[in-house]
Amino acid sequence: MKRIGILTAGGDTPALNATIYGAVERANQLNIDVFGFQRGYAGLLHDRVPHVHLNPLYTTIPELDPCRGGTLLGSSRTYIDHESTEYLQIAKEHLKKLNIDGLICIGGDGTINGMQPIAEFIPCVLAPKTIDNDLGLNYIDEPNEWVRRPTTESPGYQEVRVPTKDTVRLEDIINYATPGYATAVYVVAQSIERIRTTAESHRRVAIVEVMGRQSGYIALGSAYGQPDIILIPEVAFNLDALEARVRQIYELQQHVVIAVGEGVKYDGEGLGSAIPTFDPAGGVKYTGAADAVRDMLASRLGDQLFLEMRSFEPASSALFTRKVGHTQRGGRPILFDRFYASQLGGKAMDLLASGVSNEIATIQYEPATGFSLSSISANKLRDQWGEIHPREVHPTMYDPRRMHLSPLGIEYLQPIFTNAIGWDDMEFCRTQMFSPSNLNHRYQSVNTDIRKRIRFL
Ligand code: F6P
Repeated sequence: MKRIGILTAGGDTPALNATIYGAVERANQLNIDVFGFQRGYAGLLHDRVPHVHLNPLYTTIPELDPCRGGTLLGSSRTYIDHESTEYLQIAKEHLKKLNIDGLICIGGDGTINGMQPIAEFIPCVLAPKTIDNDLGLNYIDEPNEWVRRPTTESPGYQEVRVPTKDTVRLEDIINYATPGYATAVYVVAQSIERIRTTAESHRRVAIVEVMGRQSGYIALGSAYGQPDIILIPEVAFNLDALEARVRQIYELQQHVVIAVGEGVKYDGEGLGSAIPTFDPAGGVKYTGAADAVRDMLASRLGDQLFLEMRSFEPASSALFTRKVGHTQRGGRPILFDRFYASQLGGKAMDLLASGVSNEIATIQYEPATGFSLSSISANKLRDQWGEIHPREVHPTMYDPRRMHLSPLGIEYLQPIFTNAIGWDDMEFCRTQMFSPSNLNHRYQSVNTDIRKRIRFL
């Protein structure tokens, strides 16, 4: 391989630049030129194919900073499916005109779907990323557990999972953690910890909504911020049990902190709304789960509990919700993400250089030896109809009675987080946050810098 393309697709994560960096540094060693396409698959389809040479003379450009969140290439949720033959032809022609021999796509499940038809005419490898930590499997045959049951409603079937295993072994997990997850959990855990003192001082119930769509990994990781209750989408909660637990904790400590995954379900239905977006990969926007939990609790708890504990303050102000929102997806990646993202970028480059295609670079974990790099065919993530399902938190990682982590959940999180923060992350905060130069220098956007390097077909 002489020249490869790289792109970042889907929602941004803090570790994207680190992945690109790892891929480019490895390419430098292999004497391969790397061209970065702007804005994911959209850049590949653009008439003029805006792209950046990321390693002229096999030297990484200085704008590519692995410590910086987001992506210097920009990202979009545009993707190409099998049926878009016209778009596929355009992509093929553009790659050919640029003499691209292989493509690294950095993304999640939508990105793999976009990569699949391209892999039919050029070698492609995926380097995973997503804060949701939902790209992977709990065990190798998991996709075969999905069945389609006929229904009268469109599309004529309902997808149901029929689990074949009642527990998971950490060493069986395919792609143990996705770059971006650790930093998201870091932000979420801090938010929970910080909201605690307001709840505690004002005797309130704080309900904090975190991202993750239908996967509860971020909510699970929020345990590091010590919420009293965690609700995850994978395990439907029982309202009576939730009310009883809130009462019990409130009576004990006069406040409660609840972390809610945005896709949380009640009675088999999502609690918030899942609003369709323009996302061609079919992604939906989750909103309102924390508000729904607040409303349910407000009607169950009534005023009395709060009037007793918070005399002179209206009971209506006792329950409040906050969304951590996009702050959990941005900013400087913490050490775990930086390190493994760049390793995965390097691995993706090695896979491509060794002639492999339609493959995903992965991180594996063995309790005795720790983390290592590996890979898996993208098809192994597909069910029998070719669909990729987001990895869910295995129910055995969660204790529905305590509404908190189970021992396996604790075991799962520890290898990722125990040394996830580097001293340099702390030093960065100490020296940069209140740097006097922030007061008189405008933010220098990487978009401004990279624009000077963009080439067109
Ligand atoms: O998939 C990553 C993610 O951050 C989800 O957790 C969240 O639901 C979604 O993207 C938000 O997407 P957008 O930034 O397009 O609103």
